[in-house]
Amino acid sequence: MKNWDEVFMANYGTPTLTLVSGRGNKVQDTKGMEYLDFLGGIATNILGHAHPIIIDAVTKQLHQLTHISNFYAHPQGLLLAEELQDLVGDQSARTFFCNSGAEANEAALKISRLTGRTRVVAFTNSFHGRTMGALSMTGQESKRAPFKPLIPRVTFLPFGDVAALKRGINKRTSMVIVEPIQGEAGVIVPPKGFLAAIRERCYQTGALMTVDEVQTGMGRTGNWFGYQSEGITPDLITLAKGLGGGLPLGATIGIGKAAALLQAGSHGTTFGGSPTSVAAALAAITTIKSEKILDQVKALGNSLVDQGSKIPGVKEVRGAGLLIGIELFSENAKLIQKRLEEERILVNAPKPNTLRIAPALITSPADVEFFLSKLALVLSEQR
Ligand SMILES: Cc1ncc(COP(=O)(O)O)c(C=O)c1O
Repeated sequence: MKNWDEVFMANYGTPTLTLVSGRGNKVQDTKGMEYLDFLGGIATNILGHAHPIIIDAVTKQLHQLTHISNFYAHPQGLLLAEELQDLVGDQSARTFFCNSGAEANEAALKISRLTGRTRVVAFTNSFHGRTMGALSMTGQESKRAPFKPLIPRVTFLPFGDVAALKRGINKRTSMVIVEPIQGEAGVIVPPKGFLAAIRERCYQTGALMTVDEVQTGMGRTGNWFGYQSEGITPDLITLAKGLGGGLPLGATIGIGKAAALLQAGSHGTTFGGSPTSVAAALAAITTIKSEKILDQVKALGNSLVDQGSKIPGVKEVRGAGLLIGIELFSENAKLIQKRLEEERILVNAPKPNTLRIAPALITSPADVEFFLSKLALVLSEQR
């Protein structure tokens, strides 16, 4: 077998681990070493690896019908769209299925153009994906710079700044796109009331409010959607990552007038909502509901914040549920990530001073205890 850099482009850098199997919260590498997977495929494997219910659902579906394109309906697709309507709690909600977070945000951007307006408001340090439209709404200059010119008329307002909303969002704004918690920026939680203030300003100006729930959705924060903590209903919701229970699936959900903007022929994708991914998504949602997993997610999030904040070397632990950022006093998060890997725990470091964990929602209190004890150990070596 050839090496990574002999066959792949260099965009991801060369990974140090090659993983071959997994079950629940654990993965094994080629040398048979086992790791606690506290990154969960970057907030994606909501039921962990090789969950029997997902395996069953996908296997059954593969035997029955793998892929049919969007020329035809299939029961699982209808059931999942209905399930999402119920989770959103609004019967006007209509879904467009795609394959990834970037695509879900591209669809939201295209929908916003159908309002007849062209100006988008996004936020500093946001992350909405790597395709040109999603990148144009991403507020991180290092990711944007090499690919300019991007789509024009995107304004970035300071994330969390309620006062800036009034001047930044006006009657020419087509949509405002916001993450309830900025994941890639280092798990940044806005002040309480920020999403509600955006909602209000969008009502005042007629701009669509899009909530990018790609990272925060599907129970990650302890609610089905991150925006639910503020009791609002957006116009558009974008989903991916956890939605497919580990399989590729994205969705753009429109509510009210935003649900009616796409017309036949105006948008599409071959694989979007394929029966196989959709079967996995339905199985994941059913399991999360029947096993009351979200209560556990909230409790684990609280103990990570409470106990994690007391570890010497930790400046702040923030986030909600199982999307947690651990800010260190030092700028050596990459080194700590490496040391945790040696201690057989996988996390990542989205910022030089911040670790992120986003494990499967089936994480146990014992996993959390183990993680915290290893974090304490590794940080104690730095003093
Ligand atoms: C909030 C958010 N939006 C969009 C994306 C892009 O998703 P994808 O990588 O599936 O295109 C990500 C990925 O990290 C994300 O965190």
